[in-house]
Amino acid sequence: MKTIISACSNHLKDWFLLQRRPLPWRIDPTPYAVWVSEVMLQQTQVAVVIPYFERWMARFPTISALAEADSDTVIKMWEGLGYYSRARNLHAGAKYVVEHFGGILPKDAEALSQIKGVGPYTVGAIRAFAFRQKAAAVDGNVMRVLARLYDMHEPIDQPKVVTRLRGLAEELLPEEEPWVVAEALIELGATVCGRRPSCECCPMRQVCQSYAKGTCEQLPKKAKRVAIQKLFRIVAIIQNAHGLLLRRCEEGEIMHDLHEFPYFDVESGGIDRAVVDASLPLSLVWQYDLSPVEHAFTRYRVQLTPMVFHCASTDSVAGYQWKRWEELPELAFSSGHRRILQAVIKQGITP
Ligand code: ADE
Repeated sequence: MKTIISACSNHLKDWFLLQRRPLPWRIDPTPYAVWVSEVMLQQTQVAVVIPYFERWMARFPTISALAEADSDTVIKMWEGLGYYSRARNLHAGAKYVVEHFGGILPKDAEALSQIKGVGPYTVGAIRAFAFRQKAAAVDGNVMRVLARLYDMHEPIDQPKVVTRLRGLAEELLPEEEPWVVAEALIELGATVCGRRPSCECCPMRQVCQSYAKGTCEQLPKKAKRVAIQKLFRIVAIIQNAHGLLLRRCEEGEIMHDLHEFPYFDVESGGIDRAVVDASLPLSLVWQYDLSPVEHAFTRYRVQLTPMVFHCASTDSVAGYQWKRWEELPELAFSSGHRRILQAVIKQGITP
């Protein structure tokens, strides 16, 4: 145990200071920059996050600027990152910080925890990386590292194991520059101690209990496996003299605030015109089909089969809106439907 702690302070710290990636949120880790980056990094790869983070900070450079933005702009800036509740929580959180803390993130864990969407991980990250306090930020990466360091075979998705892992992470933090070890654990999990570990490059190899026992590939263990559900949808791209028929997803839907074409769930893949005709009160003229688009979100894998129609009517349709082509760049689309829109534009049927 003692050896692991001292190896963290020595080998891991040296390794991190030498090897760390020059990530944009590390240049000036203000509390706001850490908050935004850590929320973006939940469920999303670093390479995907970088351009989003840079655009976000240019558009909303302060917590007050974010609080004042309208929600359509916030969602548009998040378009394509997925898990949109993260953007809505950041926006609500910024308003809360302006109202309760004068636009400045507080330093203590209890006050930080009051902010919407700021859970124990983000609290730890803000305290460690921005305020340089002795705090651990334990995400999935760090849990994987710790499960291996201590050769823990209990499932890491159980609350009591998570609490234990947080305790172990805190024990590893030295008094001097604890934030370096806190961030090094994340970096190690992200770059070396991944799902397929590269033990030969690991600064902790000498003290890693799972490396010694040859169990790295089996760890960490999880109790629950998320069952992936496959969905099939027919997507109708309907154009009239006004533009395209779209729907803005409502509160309670996964894609809340994003735009989508009318779509209809079907049992299996393939073209099914009758579903579209039966579901919309419009007389449609079929134009062409596009290749199916595969799209994944939360626990779903969906196959979208797009069909393009023309419609002579300009009547309004309950639950939908006709949107002009010029308006489309300003609207946020869910990723699968954005790709379909791009395919339609490529076909050149736009006016
Ligand atoms: N993943 C989660 N947080 C991170 C961070 N601060 N740096 C790099 N990868 C991360």
